[in-house]
Amino acid sequence: MRIPAALIATCSLLTGCSTIGMGSPTASATLGATKGNQAAGTVTFVQHGAKVVVDAQVTGLTPGLHGFHIHEKGDCTAPDAASAGGHFNPHKEPHAGPDDAHRHAGDLGNLSADANGVAVYHVEVSGITLDAGADSIIGRAVIVHANADDLRTQPAGNAGPRLACGLISKGKDRWF
Ligand code: CU
Ligand code: ZN
Repeated sequence: MRIPAALIATCSLLTGCSTIGMGSPTASATLGATKGNQAAGTVTFVQHGAKVVVDAQVTGLTPGLHGFHIHEKGDCTAPDAASAGGHFNPHKEPHAGPDDAHRHAGDLGNLSADANGVAVYHVEVSGITLDAGADSIIGRAVIVHANADDLRTQPAGNAGPRLACGLISKGKDRWF
């Protein structure tokens, strides 16, 4: 969608919208539970220059840490979500955490669920994009795991079974 130039100018002048991503590409995923699990939630992705801002809200977890990744295949059809494949890793890097220089592009760290099993998570990462190309996450899957990702063990941080899976789809470019 193209945004009228006059609107951009107004917005920048009055509210500084350009700094909060007006017109930035967005994407989202709705997480559905794998067989025998109750996790559910939503994940949004907003492109901010070379980085992507990821926000997740997930319910139905056990309290504590849960590995959280982008997996390479946008296929959540298997009962255990094994169909989503391994971590999204277009540059053949080792598994690590979201702040490490060398990591799978899909390594987003851990969700932290509270005593009610609710996790709210925010992370900004490089190495992925909502645009086309080898680093694009559109059409891939986001996965929440049963256990903590130790951010070290290869190839997947020893995060255990997959509790929820969601397909990442492009949304409308957002205006505000
Ligand atoms: Cu994973
Ligand atoms: Zn990884």
